Amino acid sequence: MSESYAHCYSMHSHTCGELTAANVGAEVTLTGWVGRRRDHGGLIFIDLRDRDGITQCTFDPDDAGEAFAIAERVRPEWVMLLKGTVRHRPQGTVNGNLATGEVEVVVSEAKVLNAAKTPPFAIEDGIETDEITRMRWRYLDIRRPEMLSALKLRAHIAHILRNELAMRGFMEVETPMLGKSTPEGARDFIVPSRLSPGKFYALPQSPQLLKQLLMMGGVERYYQLARCFRDEDLRADRQPEFTQVDIEMSFCTQDDVMQLMEDVFSRVLVDLDIPMQFPLQRMQWKDAMEDYGCDRPDVRFGMLLHDVSAVLASSGFKVFAGALAGGGVVKGLNAKGAGDWPRSQVDKLADLAVSLGAKGLAWIKFGADGSISSPIKKFLSDDEVEGLRVAFDVEPGDLILMVADRPPIVNEVLSALRLHMAEALDLDRSVHALLWVVNFPMFKYDEEEQRYSAEHHPFTRIADEDLDKIESDPLACGSYSYDIVLDGFEMGGGTMRIDNPELQMRVLKRIGLSEEAATEQFGFLLDALSFGTPPHGGIALGLDRVVMLLGGYQSIRDVIAFPKTSSGSDPMSGAPAGVSTRQLREASVRIDL
Ligand code: AMO
Ligand code: AMP
Repeated sequence: MSESYAHCYSMHSHTCGELTAANVGAEVTLTGWVGRRRDHGGLIFIDLRDRDGITQCTFDPDDAGEAFAIAERVRPEWVMLLKGTVRHRPQGTVNGNLATGEVEVVVSEAKVLNAAKTPPFAIEDGIETDEITRMRWRYLDIRRPEMLSALKLRAHIAHILRNELAMRGFMEVETPMLGKSTPEGARDFIVPSRLSPGKFYALPQSPQLLKQLLMMGGVERYYQLARCFRDEDLRADRQPEFTQVDIEMSFCTQDDVMQLMEDVFSRVLVDLDIPMQFPLQRMQWKDAMEDYGCDRPDVRFGMLLHDVSAVLASSGFKVFAGALAGGGVVKGLNAKGAGDWPRSQVDKLADLAVSLGAKGLAWIKFGADGSISSPIKKFLSDDEVEGLRVAFDVEPGDLILMVADRPPIVNEVLSALRLHMAEALDLDRSVHALLWVVNFPMFKYDEEEQRYSAEHHPFTRIADEDLDKIESDPLACGSYSYDIVLDGFEMGGGTMRIDNPELQMRVLKRIGLSEEAATEQFGFLLDALSFGTPPHGGIALGLDRVVMLLGGYQSIRDVIAFPKTSSGSDPMSGAPAGVSTRQLREASVRIDL
């Protein structure tokens, strides 16, 4: 609701955030919650708060009459309706931090709309109450201006995205929540069917197949603010249910999808006054992995990774030699400015590396005084030290951190160490950085399951020149794929899609499905693909992450009205919870713990 409509359809004449000197002399009615209440022996001040702001309301025993008696007994969070006259605050009492700080309302009439119990925490910004307590009383937490502003920002961004997409001919289509479980991707949340005993629906992990089917249905340009469900381990940027701005287009190229995304998202950035250079940088996936060790590089600072396997090719140090002989690599980074860290602090980095999966962390401190200290110094020849110095562009005061192992482990550990060092060295990351990472490989090898799986999803179009390698050399197959990365977070991702049933079947087989299983699981898609499919592709933006990053919030939970804890529960309602025996019986489900 735009603020100019904020007093329509309402008991109040103005909101608590809009009175200024221009309103002096006006008779106004405000509604809201009692924030701070101060009794200045004689005068009583109440800060009345609503979603729009705070207004100081003054009760004078000589003028306020009955209202004064009410003001004497009200408590924080009581709900009030106050009538009075706007006046300038006396000189010296103007509050420059408040939009309404120039004025106050001299109250003539007060009505208690509802009393309130004492809240379990203060309803104001900057409180240090633990998050579980705040979630237990989420509706009180949302009253706090900083929480409410996250929801306002979310609604605002969603509104812009909807508008921009609609303007470009995108049609919002809803897709069902109750769908079919498919074996790819994360774990499904499943829902038993009462009408088909023993059968289950799955909540959608994304509307991926349905949006493709909409393209086959001729919708041509689709979008949806789609709720998605994934039963995965939670992190600060992950929730079990989250919202995607989901987009699909027909008769388009990869460049068309990327251009659309840039056009639409740039409108959000302009609106929020966030400067950004367009067109965005496009980084090859291979380069992202090589230089940053991950596919969502934070490019707001340098500290790139360097492969020093060649420098250490004939190393006498068994750790390096062993890793290289086993097909591994030695990579590292230069944490400039940490060369004078005490040994104990560097040892903590080694502990961190081990906790991230490394077997150890090799480090060399280049002191500001020209000294070199390292537990592996004795294993390194002068030539090797010199080689490392050149590779890492070492200056006095630098700290080199190296890991030797198989590339996935090395990259995972070093990319996390890189972020850790940026934080520890307080590197400047104040300006947002947005870029594309493109050309992901089509397949990866899943060690746990001992099979190939799709890097994005198995509906992704394989690079034309690699079609003959699906069976013979799957890891060499490229794909038409693109992720959009903001400040080191995967903000969105998409691909062009396979648009013929034979190719789709080949890919499903490659990821380990038999022809029967593929038909069982994806028969409806294979069928649809054979009835005339337009070339199509799309993308999905994680709305929660967008709001978290653009609003400067630390956790995705801060931008969701009713989020789940990291163990997937809701401390307010108690979900997930048991159900009655009758409900279980109706759903033909028996609990076996
Ligand atoms: P993908 O799985 O990459 O792609 O998801 C798209 C975007 O959704 C967000 N996201 C999440 N946000 C919060 N919590 C989660 N658990 C979570 N998981 C994902 C991320 C991510 O970039 N159907 C494809 C898109 C396509 O190909 O068009 C898909 O779902 O911001
Ligand atoms: P070690 O001789 O195994 O005690 O290791 C000597 C040093 O090398 C220690 O500082 C270890 O942390 C480090 N180190 C051990 N394994 C690795 C590895 N895979 N990569 C990088 N450094 C390692």
